[in-house]
Amino acid sequence: MPRLLIPVESTPGETRIAATPDTVKKFISLGCSVSVERGAGVASGYLDAAYSDQGAALVAVGDTSTWSQADILLCVQPPPSENLRRLHQGALVVGLMAPYANAALATTLEQAGLSAMALELLPRISRAQSADALSSQANIAGYKSVLLASSALDRYFPMLMTAAGTVQPAKVVILGAGVAGLQAVATARRLGAVVYVSDIRPAVKEQVESLGARFIEPPETDDKPAESGGYAKQASDAFLAAQRQQLSDQLAEADVAICTAQVPGRRAPRLISEDMLDRMRPGAVVVDLAVAQGGNCAETVPGQTVDRKGVKLIGGNDLPCTVPNHASALYARNLVALLEPTMKDGQFSLDLDDELIAGCLIAQDGSIRRGDVLTPGAN
Ligand code: NAI
Repeated sequence: MPRLLIPVESTPGETRIAATPDTVKKFISLGCSVSVERGAGVASGYLDAAYSDQGAALVAVGDTSTWSQADILLCVQPPPSENLRRLHQGALVVGLMAPYANAALATTLEQAGLSAMALELLPRISRAQSADALSSQANIAGYKSVLLASSALDRYFPMLMTAAGTVQPAKVVILGAGVAGLQAVATARRLGAVVYVSDIRPAVKEQVESLGARFIEPPETDDKPAESGGYAKQASDAFLAAQRQQLSDQLAEADVAICTAQVPGRRAPRLISEDMLDRMRPGAVVVDLAVAQGGNCAETVPGQTVDRKGVKLIGGNDLPCTVPNHASALYARNLVALLEPTMKDGQFSLDLDDELIAGCLIAQDGSIRRGDVLTPGAN
């Protein structure tokens, strides 16, 4: 019987939890035993009693014997190295492991003989959709980014015809039309804004237009950026310069810019320069969801709102944590979808021929399997 452990998340500001009472029930029905550290779900609205009602054992935070007996640790963000080292050799850690170039994590996994699955590396195939935690969390970030922008903006979003005259709708420019960007489009449209979208993948034009937004065609350059597996590949400096030129006029007329453009494992493309910010009107708002990856916009700071000559720059790195109940519910269901096929008749085994498992299993019993992404050593 696999023993699951759900710890209190230790990353500051992390309000989500990797299992809800519903998913605990599911894992128990699959033949697992589940231990939940006391208080682990409080920040996301799931109380200890709800877990124990579904059959979980409540354990003290950091209880050494529970950690040393756990076979599978479900987390949102990886626990600190000293906690991971309490797990027994061969134990599996599953979470958003931030694997790219994470040498410290690789070293810990190697030295402690651990296995780990990084949800960031799940292949983007149809079968993986129910387990896709990047998507479930990006959806929330896209939604919340528009709500933050609308409440920080000094104008209405919708067009209004009032006795005091007509108010024009807000103009929102969305950079990047992946999961977060498309949800931002839908949310801004629901609030009545006029929405423009820029992305380097031509495939998104139809999706953007079907949501009632206008697509800004990528600039014509000799070296068009490519995509692979549904993701954008890194664009050249010449392309990005042409793109900035093109966006500058759009932003000068915008009330809101929502930045969601990312390239996996790379620094986010810089799309809004200081010169472009200089052209934005005082009162305008920029929300940068890529701020933790270096930012799409100049001068944004993770977790902070910066007032730059009247333009509000919101560093939106942790927006799923501001909707922790639903963020946790969806994330926890992603983990069930990923792990359910690995559990049969109360036994746990990883099928390395399964594309999903092979894609995200970064380490197995201490040996690094995705050396293309992470290598041990000092960070
Ligand atoms: P992401 O978070 O890596 O990037 C967000 C967006 O930024 C992407 O649309 C990308 O093309 C865009 N971007 C990159 N550089 C840019 C630049 N210089 N200017 C403007 N935009 C730029 O991507 P995300 O949201 O994780 O997913 C990308 C796509 O993957 C989705 O739209 C979807 O088509 C596909 N997908 C497939 C899934 C499946 O089949 N299991 C699940 C989820 C997404």
